[in-house]
Amino acid sequence: MLKDKNIVLAVTGSIAAYKMANVASALVKQHANVTVMMTKNATNFINPITFETLTGNKCLVDTFDRNFQYSVEHISLANSADVVLIAPATANVIAKLACGLADDMLTTTVLACKCKKIVSPAMNTNMFENPITQDNIEKLKHYGFEIIEPDSGRLACGDVGAGKLPAEDVLLSYIYKEVLYRKDLAGKKVLITAGPTVESIDPVRFISNHSTGKMGYALARVCAYRGADVELVSGRCAIPKPSFVNVTDVLSAEDMFEAVKDRYKQADIVIMAAAVADYTPETVADNKIKKKEGDLSLSFKRTKDILSFVGENKSPGQFVCGFAMETEDLVDNAKGKLTRKNADMIVANSLRDKGAGFATDTNIVTIITKDDVKKLEIMSKDDISVRIIDEIISRM
Ligand code: CTP
Repeated sequence: MLKDKNIVLAVTGSIAAYKMANVASALVKQHANVTVMMTKNATNFINPITFETLTGNKCLVDTFDRNFQYSVEHISLANSADVVLIAPATANVIAKLACGLADDMLTTTVLACKCKKIVSPAMNTNMFENPITQDNIEKLKHYGFEIIEPDSGRLACGDVGAGKLPAEDVLLSYIYKEVLYRKDLAGKKVLITAGPTVESIDPVRFISNHSTGKMGYALARVCAYRGADVELVSGRCAIPKPSFVNVTDVLSAEDMFEAVKDRYKQADIVIMAAAVADYTPETVADNKIKKKEGDLSLSFKRTKDILSFVGENKSPGQFVCGFAMETEDLVDNAKGKLTRKNADMIVANSLRDKGAGFATDTNIVTIITKDDVKKLEIMSKDDISVRIIDEIISRM
């Protein structure tokens, strides 16, 4: 995924520095060329050898290291970098960068970098909230640095508050957003539904389905990385929420319908990837559902078809894409849904294919439009998302 990308990690002296080993390792697994720079203080928390072993590149600590050409090293590194992540960034390094100070390898290189620079502050809450630090952060933003908001929680010093380095996945998502894709959805608004709906029977029990939300979340993530403003209406999912996406959590088909009704008009692209229940219990029992001996009788009513509603009411220029989960006659059934629901595209997948459907990380889909049927080979849900978005963009 990151082949030919040069990523520079700048690690400064905070206890959270150890997390950067996982970040470096994840990037190398995606075939990125990773170079780590450390301040002298950072080497008290993690050994440069860890990074050298993980990345296969020399870890750069001191400008006056005699083992390499320090005078040109920082400039060539600065020139070749596609992105620099300064994490964890201490108050001291943030202050130095805000003032343009360059007194070691790390600050010298960052000052020479023209690529995107991302800063993830990590420090004691009082230091973070100090107006001097806040002013320095504002100054960095003004100069085009992207700032990752620190998490709140119990810090290493025992204080509770803002200042924690976010989880590795969050740090990685900032890098991915920067280097993975062209920003060909910049300025576009995308509305996506994902996950299962939950239809209550009584205060304790419910009916749902096996959807995990992986396909819809992958679509949301890829759209956000490609520059879109993404609204995700999500049924109950156990997977982490994608970064850079505005998420609205819902439970039932009715909740999902209401959330979509409030949002679809503003969207340029609507993608309904949720597994919405077609039926919901007629009434939710007040207490416990009455059960005769060996017989559980429930009566059901149809849910509103959200995709049909959006299809019928779409505005000119708006692109509507639905999904279809089929067990037989995949293409014919999906074509029927395309017409019936007035969608511009249906992404059909068969529950009978190995590696496709619920809970898998891969999928096998057929993309169906009015004049085309395109079957894709098995691939990751992220790669499928890229292909679906490519197809949508080419038709808008
Ligand atoms: N869908 C919807 N609202 C519903 C049911 C489905 O918006 N009440 C959407 C799904 O999100 C999907 C598409 O319609 O994008 C097709 O869903 P699917 O369950 O495959 O088709 P159904 O119309 O429900 O028909 P069937 O279950 O009979 O195949």
